[in-house]
Amino acid sequence: MSDTRFDAIVIGSGIAGLRASIEMARGGARLAILTKDGPTDSSSDKAQGGLAAVLSDDDEVSLHYEDTLRAGDGLCHEAAVRVLVEEGPALALELIEWGARFDHEGARLALGREGAHSKRRILHAHGDSTGREIVRALVEKVRQTPGIVLLPRMFSIDLILAGGRCAGLLALDERTDTPVALSAPALVLATGGVGQVYAETTNPPQATGDGMVMAYRAGAEMMDMEFVQFHPTALCLPGVPRFLLSEAMRGEGGRLLNASGERFMVRVDERAELAPRDVVARGIVAEMRRSGHACVYLDMTARDAAFVRERFPNIAATCARYGLDIARDRVPVAPCAHYIMGGVKTDLWGRTSIPGLYAAGEAACTGVHGANRLASNSLLEGLVFGARAGRAVLGDRPVAIAADVAAGGAESVRSIDRASSAAVVAGLRRLMSAEAGILRNAAGLARAVRGILDLEGGLGERPVSREGVEARNLLFAGRLIAESALRREESRGSHYREDFPGPEPGRGRHSIIAPGAPAPDLPRVEVHDFI
Ligand code: SIN
Repeated sequence: MSDTRFDAIVIGSGIAGLRASIEMARGGARLAILTKDGPTDSSSDKAQGGLAAVLSDDDEVSLHYEDTLRAGDGLCHEAAVRVLVEEGPALALELIEWGARFDHEGARLALGREGAHSKRRILHAHGDSTGREIVRALVEKVRQTPGIVLLPRMFSIDLILAGGRCAGLLALDERTDTPVALSAPALVLATGGVGQVYAETTNPPQATGDGMVMAYRAGAEMMDMEFVQFHPTALCLPGVPRFLLSEAMRGEGGRLLNASGERFMVRVDERAELAPRDVVARGIVAEMRRSGHACVYLDMTARDAAFVRERFPNIAATCARYGLDIARDRVPVAPCAHYIMGGVKTDLWGRTSIPGLYAAGEAACTGVHGANRLASNSLLEGLVFGARAGRAVLGDRPVAIAADVAAGGAESVRSIDRASSAAVVAGLRRLMSAEAGILRNAAGLARAVRGILDLEGGLGERPVSREGVEARNLLFAGRLIAESALRREESRGSHYREDFPGPEPGRGRHSIIAPGAPAPDLPRVEVHDFI
């Protein structure tokens, strides 16, 4: 690579990373976007339901604010939620100006409804391919904006610190299979989530928690890692990937039925299928346990068949590949891992506890989602806090620090052989699903923590490979989730403890993990104060 020094580096090409990059480049920064596969290989690109924003006359920002707080179950950072709902609409309109084509009904934007929203406020595109359309428009905008270089197949391994600041990173250039060191006075982590820590997830294969773990290993504070959202309705067929069946299907009249054809959610919550996700996911698990059946069914037959196929063309086409007609058949569904509310702790401008290091989107934790994210608030979060992180970098004007960023720093990375890492990851995913999933208890979570330590022993000392580093990252992330879940002795939002079925009295407290120092090996989560 010829150019290795930039004003800023962004890791990740989802909505948060792209939006942050555009903001910085418009302010005159010269920057690189690193992405470990192609620019459209992200969770943002796969998002179906949409982007929540108050854009209709019969909606109000205060209602979106209240819905978000209610879903977050006492743990939302209220100032962050205010920023989200107040700044979101203008940024959504700006996306339209930049060429994003959202669905319309006549001349007006078509607004969908999803669980726990009191109004129709979900922008969607091509029915159920909203993320793809937004990412398309943003990548196009990036390509037209001078100062940004997109570096695909560049796998980030570890951050480089100098003088207590983030000074760059070590990466693996997968095109040449060589390590490279890149330097910049500001680095924005927009690496997305960690769904691959579970056996069943809606997340793409790239969701291995790379940014979170790099930040943690460099000494950044992490927040609320126990809060993992399980989407209630993923396709559940033997041997078939857990494809998402958007919450918007329930918003458009979809009903959940048990094996006997009963609408069981009406017994669980007065909002039935449109209760918050954690309530619906637990309702489904309880029904599966009661009936001994491996799934429940999503039934769209209350709506006109042509409407259903036109509104959800991507879902219809995918299900058709498995012989299912979403307009007429009961589609087998079960919950699976979807989104992590926790992540690298940031302020309202994406600043982490390490100077020069910023985070936005799913990798970050602003506290905006509290203990449970409201549907379609994540694309909005990426947009709003991505733009803010970009503005913060411009305003902070971090200075470049001379650092030893030679690629020889690779020996700081524990290297692992490809075959052993595949076995380790498979073991981790089974363990996390069994012991740290929707229903949790102390004994199971302790087994998860011990099991992760055992798995760590299975990683060999071989040359650096992407698979090996991803395995390392997944182990770290799994450990952070399990340790945090063990410490939180209450049930709140997405975190349900069978041995502590109610919330602690009073307002919720955040869990903070503060590593003492950069740790080459798996962390012991020593400090776990609640604030
Ligand atoms: C969905 O379409 O159900 C997913 C949207 C989201 O996770 O917010």
